[in-house]
Amino acid sequence: MGYSALWYTDALPEDGVIETVERDEIRANLAEDNFLNAGRSGQVGVLRGEAMTILPELDGPYDLISVDTDWSEFPLLFNEILCLVRVGGIITSSNLFPRTFDVNLGGISEVA
Ligand SMILES: C[S@@+](CC[C@H](N)C(=O)[O-])C[C@H]1O[C@@H](n2cnc3c(N)ncnc32)[C@H](O)[C@@H]1O
Repeated sequence: MGYSALWYTDALPEDGVIETVERDEIRANLAEDNFLNAGRSGQVGVLRGEAMTILPELDGPYDLISVDTDWSEFPLLFNEILCLVRVGGIITSSNLFPRTFDVNLGGISEVA
């Protein structure tokens, strides 16, 4: 785990940091091990717990927020994310268009 975050570290400025949120203890441990083994533990950290609990406690602003939860959680998290991203910042998300693969699934059906 920590695969996506490690790719983002390639684009970090020297003083940049990445914070990841993970509720699963085993995955959080794995991510920390991977950050350490990649020599990036000084730049990337794991905040352990539920995103809905952790996000309101963060200060921000963040240049980029990448959401990789189950798509059904995205609408719940969106307001918190909007409060944390800087003006002109970037929000990315996976799994927003599950209907592309199965019309019976929810998610967003079209781009505005
Ligand atoms: C698809 S995985 C991707 C992990 C990461 N992007 C990577 O490359 O290793 C999504 C991860 O988010 C965690 N997760 C999903 N919903 C969460 C939530 N609401 N709060 C905290 N962690 C969550 C899951 O436990 C899972 O490990």
